[in-house]
Amino acid sequence: MQNAENPEVQKIMAATAIDLQPYASLNDEDCDKRIVRAKQALGDRVVILGHHYQRDEIFKHADFSGDSLKLSRQAADSKAEYIVFCGVHFMAEVADIISRPEQVSILPDLSAGCAMADMADLEQVQRAWRELNSVLDADESITPVTYINSAANLKAFCGEHGGIVCTSTNAQNILDWSFERREKVLFFPDQHLGRNTGYKMGIPLEEMVVWDYDMPMGGLSKEQIKNAKMILWKGFCSVHQMFKPEQVENFRREYPDGFVISHPEASFEVCQMSDFVGSTEYIINTISNAEPDTQWLVGTELNLVNRLHQTLASENKTVQFMSPMLCMCSTMFRIDPQHLAWVLENLVEGNVVNQISVPVNVANHARVALQRMLEI
Ligand code: 13P
Ligand code: SF4
Repeated sequence: MQNAENPEVQKIMAATAIDLQPYASLNDEDCDKRIVRAKQALGDRVVILGHHYQRDEIFKHADFSGDSLKLSRQAADSKAEYIVFCGVHFMAEVADIISRPEQVSILPDLSAGCAMADMADLEQVQRAWRELNSVLDADESITPVTYINSAANLKAFCGEHGGIVCTSTNAQNILDWSFERREKVLFFPDQHLGRNTGYKMGIPLEEMVVWDYDMPMGGLSKEQIKNAKMILWKGFCSVHQMFKPEQVENFRREYPDGFVISHPEASFEVCQMSDFVGSTEYIINTISNAEPDTQWLVGTELNLVNRLHQTLASENKTVQFMSPMLCMCSTMFRIDPQHLAWVLENLVEGNVVNQISVPVNVANHARVALQRMLEI
C-alpha cells in the first residue's frame, strides 16, 4: 500500500518495468512455462489467488481458489509479500485493504473491473443518503450494506455510516446483523442478491423497493420509503441476468429428476424455481457432494460450470450451463496468461506493476466495514 503512493517509487517503477507489449505475441504454452519459472523463482514471496470464474489457463496457477469471501480471508491470512489477484478490481482492492501494510496487491490487467460494481458510485450513494435523510433520519434508521462487488469508497461509506460489507455466502447473516441495529437496510449495488436474501428471511416483496439511481428520490414516494424494509439499488450482473425461467422449465421437462442450482445474483424468478441457491463455493460443494449419476442445471458463470462438468464427468454427473447463450464474465476473462507472465516476471526483476493501492483514508473506513463482516 505504501509503495505506490510515493511518487519517487512510482517513477522508478515506471522507468524499470518490463514492457507488456512483447507478451501480447506469446502463445499460451510459452506463457505457461514462464509463469511456472517465475513462480518458482519468487517462492513464498508471492501468492496467486484465483476466483472460480477465472479461465483454466489461469486457474491452474492459483495457490488458492475460492469465492469472494474465501479469497478475502486468504488475502488477510497471506504471509506473501505480493498478492497477485486473478479476479476483478474490487477483489484486489479488498486484498490491499485487509493485508499488512508491507504487502502489495496486484491485478494482472487493470481493465478487469466488475460491471455490476460500476453501477454504484460514491456520488450516487451519497445523494441517495441525502435524499433518504429528507424523509427519515438515515443514520438512525438505515444500515447501508454493500455487496463486496463494489468500489472501496463505497465500503468506506458503509464503514463511516455504521454499515457493513456482505458476500453472496454471508448475506443473510449480515442482514440479520444489520436489522438488529436499525429497522431498514439500503442494499447496493445488486438488487437481486438483496431481494433473494431478504425474501428468504421472510421479508415480503412489497417491503423491498428498488432505488433507481437515475431518478430523483430513487423514483420512490415518501410513503414507499417509509414503508420499505429494504431499499435495493437498481444494479445487476449482466452475466447472471441472462438466466431465464423458461431455461429452467426446459431442463425440468428433459430431466424431471434433475436439480437446478443458481447464484443469488440471478433473478428472483430463477432463484425461486431453483432447488438450491448460493455462492460459487456453495455451488461447487453442493454438486461435488451430490450422488453420482445426477443431472444439474447451473445458473452461474460459464468457466466455473465447464470446469464442474469436466471434473464430475467421471461420476457420471451431467452439469449443464443454464443459458443457451455462452455468457462468461468478460472482465474476469481479461486476466490472461500473457498478463500473468508479465506481472510475475516483473516481480522477479524487482518491479511492481499493476499495483492496486487504495488511498489510506478510504482504506481505513473500508476496513471497518470489512472487519465487521469478517467477524460475523
Ligand atoms: P462469489 O462470492 O459467489 O464468488 O461471487 C462473486 C461474483 O462476482 C459473482 O458474480
Ligand atoms: Fe461482476 Fe457479474 Fe463478473 Fe461477478 S460475474 S465479477 S458480478 S460482472
